[in-house]
Amino acid sequence: MRILSGIQPTGAIHIGNYLGAIKQWIELQEKNECVFFISDLHSLTIPYKPEELKEKILEAAIIYLAAGINPEKSIFFVQSHVKEHAELSWFLNTVCPVGDLMRMTQYKEKSKEFKKDINAGLLNYPILMASDILLYKTDKVPVGKDQVQHVELARTIARKFNQRFGKVFVEPEALISKSGAKIMALDNPKKKMSKSLGPQNYISLFDEPELIKKKIMSALTDTGKNIKYDPVKKPGISNLLNIFSLITDREIKNLEKEFKSKGYSLFKKSLADSLINFLEPFRRKKKELLSRELYVYETLKQGAKRAQIIAGSTMEEVKKKMGL
Ligand code: TYM
Repeated sequence: MRILSGIQPTGAIHIGNYLGAIKQWIELQEKNECVFFISDLHSLTIPYKPEELKEKILEAAIIYLAAGINPEKSIFFVQSHVKEHAELSWFLNTVCPVGDLMRMTQYKEKSKEFKKDINAGLLNYPILMASDILLYKTDKVPVGKDQVQHVELARTIARKFNQRFGKVFVEPEALISKSGAKIMALDNPKKKMSKSLGPQNYISLFDEPELIKKKIMSALTDTGKNIKYDPVKKPGISNLLNIFSLITDREIKNLEKEFKSKGYSLFKKSLADSLINFLEPFRRKKKELLSRELYVYETLKQGAKRAQIIAGSTMEEVKKKMGL
């Protein structure tokens, strides 16, 4: 089975990205053919500083490696290093109706957020994502809930293309982790944790212990004292319980029992300590990999070469079928 997924190098990569996506990747790479990449082309669709992008890409690469992506096993690269992603995107633009793009939730949200810069790339974003997926004839796409609609559109595009021009693409399916699919913002548990909502809403994988403690202690919680999982009535505590459970592999029921009458403060302190421990290897490996920048770039270069072989061969098929 071929698996593929990616992350944008915008802002800090946070525990939502890890628990919703990356954690699954590490498990999946053991038994499948995996393709993981840094989607830098997608990150051009919202305002950004060109002089910072290179550093963000390096940081994302370090996160992949620190999290346990094994470049010997998985194909690991930067999207813009394999030109076929952008190339296929143009072809798929001619297959995908504008109406399908206009109804995408992320487009609606982002075009509200960046009112002054609604560029065509923001609308066509899911087509580039479909290209990423379809180029490698991907079977499964491990993502968080927010990306499922885009994977479904990729599936529709694949089907339409195959029907009209003859079979080239595999129809992909999203793979969602049960409880990590939607980690909520610390300062507003009704919104999803997001790179764009500011550092107080997320824990970055590289946050220092003091900062983790501060962010968790000031996370918005609900009225009352009970540590109880109830996402409707107690979205704040439920989100923290969910994070706690995912990083310690303990059941929510057991955590509820342990902290039943201990109050929010002790619960949060304990969660902060667990998070600090959990993220310690990330901080350590970051330091180590920062001193081995050349190794990281070389790994990405080799990964792009491997990716290009598959992508190039799919592009040849596409062009032939489309009459070019
Ligand atoms: P991005 O960079 O926004 O997020 C990367 C991954 O993290 C998941 N995620 C979350 N999961 C749980 N809780 C959250 N709060 C949370 N926030 C983010 C996302 O669902 C995603 O899986 N368009 C994609 C990147 C991409 C891609 C692809 C993914 C480009 N091409 C092809 C899969 C296949 C994106 O912007 O993800």
